[in-house]
Amino acid sequence: MNSNSARLLLRNLLLHRQNRISLWLHQSNGYSSVSFIRSPETLGSREPRDLYFTISPWKRMLSSASAPEKREEVREISVSDGGKGEIGKRQPEAVTVSSYWGVAPLKATREDGSPWPWNCFMPWDAYKTDLSIDLTKHHVPKTFLDKFAYRTVKILRIPTDIFFRRRYGCRAMMLETVAAVPGMVGGMLLHLKSLRKFQQSGGWIKALLEEAENERMHLMTMVEIVQPKWYERFLVLTVQGVFFNAFFILYLLSPKLAHRIVGYLEEEAIHSYTEFLKDIDSGAIENIPAPAIAIDYWRLPKDATLKDVVIVIRADEAHHRDVNHFASDIHFQGKELREAPAPVGYH
Ligand SMILES: [Fe+2]
Ligand SMILES: [Fe+2]
Repeated sequence: MNSNSARLLLRNLLLHRQNRISLWLHQSNGYSSVSFIRSPETLGSREPRDLYFTISPWKRMLSSASAPEKREEVREISVSDGGKGEIGKRQPEAVTVSSYWGVAPLKATREDGSPWPWNCFMPWDAYKTDLSIDLTKHHVPKTFLDKFAYRTVKILRIPTDIFFRRRYGCRAMMLETVAAVPGMVGGMLLHLKSLRKFQQSGGWIKALLEEAENERMHLMTMVEIVQPKWYERFLVLTVQGVFFNAFFILYLLSPKLAHRIVGYLEEEAIHSYTEFLKDIDSGAIENIPAPAIAIDYWRLPKDATLKDVVIVIRADEAHHRDVNHFASDIHFQGKELREAPAPVGYH
């Protein structure tokens, strides 16, 4: 078989495989998403999670005849679901696929039909924060490890207070660069443990990675409000290098202590955001309009302000506090995280 024949065979195999692709998507909120159709077997159901993305197979077969490197594809139909499980108006949509691999970009809309402007998160990642969460809850340190965790966090706060004082916007932006690390480290180590031990994680990998992602979105929001200066960027590099490695080793040695420390860090974050709100209320910090990314991510009203954003971020931190103290409690009871169902999607 010469090289041209081999390439043709490989291409045909790939196209055959792609014809059978159906990418199931978890649609867990009220946003409508175009570029999806219902699977034939679920057309009768009214379950919005049964939406899936498809590419017209016959179109691929046609294109495989000439097999151009770049070709145009048309997605078969689009469905506006409205989050209510009702099939809306179908409309054809042309999508230009510039890749041989046919990885077409997803296109989504907001509820009002305007194009979804973000690639970093999609409508089904957005949510409404549960603001009813108790912000005052505190894990009283009783054991030696608890007290060690609590003292460590209190000591870490001293240089932060000295460096930032009441510059809460800047403080929040910088601390979010650190806050997004523990979930990623914990999720990564649980992932590796799952592979090593041939065990499920009980959903904890996903829960911790969700936390990391949520914290990163806090950062993406804060950076819209406060632009970091060059020396702050340098500080982030240094702190990340130290903190990632320190937390990585700590999590290997004692996930119980690691989660307890994060639980107390989250309690401090709630305190910081409460002080941030006080300064907004007093006028010391201007209550500017909320960044567009925050309005879409937390599904805030269009006229939302910085104060609304800080309120939802603070509620997120309270959820992280609960998740991490809960994780530490599981270890304190001599169990593994996978033995307790993980709080996936806990916002
Ligand atoms: Fe955060
Ligand atoms: Fe947090």
